[in-house]
Amino acid sequence: MITRDFFLFLAKNDFMKDKARKWGPKFGAKSVIAGETIEEAMQTAKELNEKGLKVTVDHLGEFVYNKEEAMDAADYCIRTLEGMEESGVDCNLSLKLTQLGLDIDKELCISNMRAILDTAKKYNNFVRIDMEDYSHIEATFEVLEELRKTHDNVGPAIQAYLFRSEQDVEALKGMNIRLMKGAYNESPEVAFKDQKEIDNNYINIIKRHMRNGSYAAVATHDHKIIAEVKKFAEENGISKDQFEFQMLYGFRSELQEEIAAEGFKMRVYVPFGNDWYGYFMRRLAERPQNITFAVRGVLTN
Ligand code: FDA
Repeated sequence: MITRDFFLFLAKNDFMKDKARKWGPKFGAKSVIAGETIEEAMQTAKELNEKGLKVTVDHLGEFVYNKEEAMDAADYCIRTLEGMEESGVDCNLSLKLTQLGLDIDKELCISNMRAILDTAKKYNNFVRIDMEDYSHIEATFEVLEELRKTHDNVGPAIQAYLFRSEQDVEALKGMNIRLMKGAYNESPEVAFKDQKEIDNNYINIIKRHMRNGSYAAVATHDHKIIAEVKKFAEENGISKDQFEFQMLYGFRSELQEEIAAEGFKMRVYVPFGNDWYGYFMRRLAERPQNITFAVRGVLTN
């Protein structure tokens, strides 16, 4: 039996990550990754926009330990924002701080982020900081606090599986936050392990954030959570402008379009680039049914 832990273990395998960069998307990853270049990502964003869907693109990459690589990643983020402006898509940017040097030097990461946020500001755009594993949480919030002194076009992501998430949502009141269940393998000392407890906490923090009058990006493929959020908004007179739903590219596409057709904001997270391996392994870990992507991919590659 292939387990969630096995795929999360594979997701961190540096040898495989390195090989995968050279191969390009394999094992069915193509159906959940929008190509390798900015042009391909913009083309996908355009097609999604035509279906009434908003987009956030993520140039895949994480856990960079080399200064030059971190600066190149920042430069690529800037070019991606320019690509969005040139192609006129309804799209913002998602990124990971470890890609921008968080593990090398916090000041380098902040300076890379400021350059990215300046470009986003120039184009009236927004940047979402994805949340990574628990060992990076404190540093991520420290960087965010620094950035918020000079920029308001940036927002974090909060993982409902963490015990601390309710406190974090309260501390970040007023901010545009993405809320999701959480994708990494965390210790029972810091995270709920039981699915029901995670779901309860997820609903709890979403409602808390919305009740506070803050903007919520509810990132889930779980139709039960989505139904509950819609009901909560309606019962409490919360406008459709105060929240959005988000899903990953290639997952539940029909549901994405249905939600948009109902007049809700629906944003699709579109990853692209050659560093696809860790992202794809985490998706396989989340849902055993996703393995059909991999099997189909092996057969068609
Ligand atoms: P979950 O996997 O818990 O599924 C719940 C139920 O929904 C299933 O039992 C099934 O009924 C239904 N369902 C789910 N997927 C389905 C499918 N494909 N087809 C049919 N039914 C399905 N994580 C993180 O740690 N940091 C981050 O920054 C982000 N960012 C992020 C952005 C966006 C836009 C999304 C959608 C997700 C993330 N995540 C993330 C990942 C997130 O934390 C979480 O691991 C996954 O979204 C899986 O949890 P779900 O809430 O989607 O449903």
